[in-house]
Amino acid sequence: MRLIIITAFCVLLISCAHSWQGETVQDLHAEYSNIFKYGNRNAASHLWSTFILNNSASMQPSQVELFFSGFCAVSGSPVRPNDYNRYLLTLPLVSGGDIKRTGAMHYCCWPCVCDTQDFIRVDTLTIPTIDGPRQYHFAVVGNPCENEEALHKPFHQPFYGGRDTTLAQEAREVRCVDGKLAGATMSDHGFVIISMFFDLPETDNNALTTTTTEGTQPGRVSDYNGVQVQHEREYAGWCVDRANNGYNSGMGEIFRKVAEISPIEIHQRLDL
Ligand SMILES: *[C@@H]1O[C@H](CO)[C@@H](O)[C@H](O)[C@H]1NC(C)=O
Repeated sequence: MRLIIITAFCVLLISCAHSWQGETVQDLHAEYSNIFKYGNRNAASHLWSTFILNNSASMQPSQVELFFSGFCAVSGSPVRPNDYNRYLLTLPLVSGGDIKRTGAMHYCCWPCVCDTQDFIRVDTLTIPTIDGPRQYHFAVVGNPCENEEALHKPFHQPFYGGRDTTLAQEAREVRCVDGKLAGATMSDHGFVIISMFFDLPETDNNALTTTTTEGTQPGRVSDYNGVQVQHEREYAGWCVDRANNGYNSGMGEIFRKVAEISPIEIHQRLDL
């Protein structure tokens, strides 16, 4: 009997030591220095993701989802999720065949919409939760370690005063070990998970309602089947301007450089 109690106590201790007991998004943010060992979150949202996935087995699915809404997939910055920073996007699934999925992501700032459209795709992964395995959709990018030399190629950084640098310097958490991105969790088709692609409620007749449907209006919040979102299309014009200005706004510049090393190519299912 005593042995059983001691054993149970040890098991409890071990599981406590190994799983993180956060409850709020602020608790996740407090782990920053444990997650980013080199102190730089540039293009490193794969580490936020792995930190949550490392601990998902002891979380309710709703907690997993909450924590994934606590950072920006593009900039890596901590985010306080709310109705004004939830963006609706329709992105290609990596499984091919020109199939797209509509979902949501929380961002620090609007330019992430443009960077998402250019580089982020959607894939699945089944993860353990306290309620058993759950399949989720995740935001994924290509593995930069497929072309590791690109991380060490000098380039001119025109912003913040201008200087010559490398991605290895600017995105210090992006490290390759034997062709793998260190600390990354890969999706079902082998891409780097950088956040969750949140489900939105679906109805037979998916409805987007805005006070005025005319034109585009960055910052406008719409209702999508009962959920408040900013629709990606509001930013179409701003994304074009930003591209014309060399992507000079937002924190996505380093993200873009890392994501374009090995962009995800989706093969069309053509019956030839
Ligand atoms: C995830 O868990 C592995 C194995 O315990 C650990 O090496 C890694 O540092 C963890 N990653 C993060 C981001 O917490």
